[in-house]
Amino acid sequence: MIEENLVYPVTTGTTAHPGGYAGAMAEFYEASAGRLAGHLAAGRDVVLLAEGDPLFYGSYMYMHDRLSDRFETEVVPGVPAFAAATAGVATPLVRQTDVLTILPGTLPEPELARRLADTDGAIIMKLGRTFPKVRSALEQAGRLDHAMYVERASMPEQRWLPVRDVDPATVPYFSLIVVPGDSVAAEPSGRRTPIQPVVARVATGRAELVVVGLGPGPTPGSPPKPPRSSPTSSTWSATRRTSIGCRSGLG
Ligand SMILES: C[S@@+](CC[C@H](N)C(=O)[O-])C[C@H]1O[C@@H](n2cnc3c(N)ncnc32)[C@H](O)[C@@H]1O
Repeated sequence: MIEENLVYPVTTGTTAHPGGYAGAMAEFYEASAGRLAGHLAAGRDVVLLAEGDPLFYGSYMYMHDRLSDRFETEVVPGVPAFAAATAGVATPLVRQTDVLTILPGTLPEPELARRLADTDGAIIMKLGRTFPKVRSALEQAGRLDHAMYVERASMPEQRWLPVRDVDPATVPYFSLIVVPGDSVAAEPSGRRTPIQPVVARVATGRAELVVVGLGPGPTPGSPPKPPRSSPTSSTWSATRRTSIGCRSGLG
């Protein structure tokens, strides 16, 4: 096995390349593709290891752009960091009609704040030096209280803590922020009706069927509705049914 290390010329620092960061990276990708093409043209198989999913903000894409039309290519899907991070904090990210927005922390602060205020769930990637700006945008959008910072998801050193408690000086490249869609309901504006159990009883003559599900609860401030004697379409269409229990021997 031949091992090729493709080492980035620029990570967090600056570059003296005449084309700046973009110029240095384009040159690096061209040179890397040339090295891999040499192996492929010689009849060798090349495996390019990518972190997370190769087509989700992955550097693999720059090799794909340059080589896949010339050489047979197979892309193996991976678990993206945001899925590993969400699983790590064991918090639902988005459900039902929630909108999920994935944001690079490199966006300008006003754009981050605008997009955060306009979504349910959010993931913010590419932190590091961008962290103070991202934290400020979360605060402006009213989403700071429930935002969770996850570092090195799925690695042995994985750790997570509320964004409020993060020391900006310690934020590494392998980190992101999870803003759960459910936290919209906790905002002062209360954009979402909370999810609450729905119970319907159906009299069938010989037996009683009890359907237990989860659906939109009462609007905050209004009294809860009494249980219905028979189900309506809205009761039946309640999503996320968790169990159906039968009394009187329906089996
Ligand atoms: C160039 S993108 C690569 C994304 C990768 N292809 C994926 O599927 O997640 C790099 C960014 O992904 C995030 N990231 C990657 N791995 C991570 C990890 N293990 N824990 C937390 N964030 C991670 C960080 O925000 C980092 O700045």
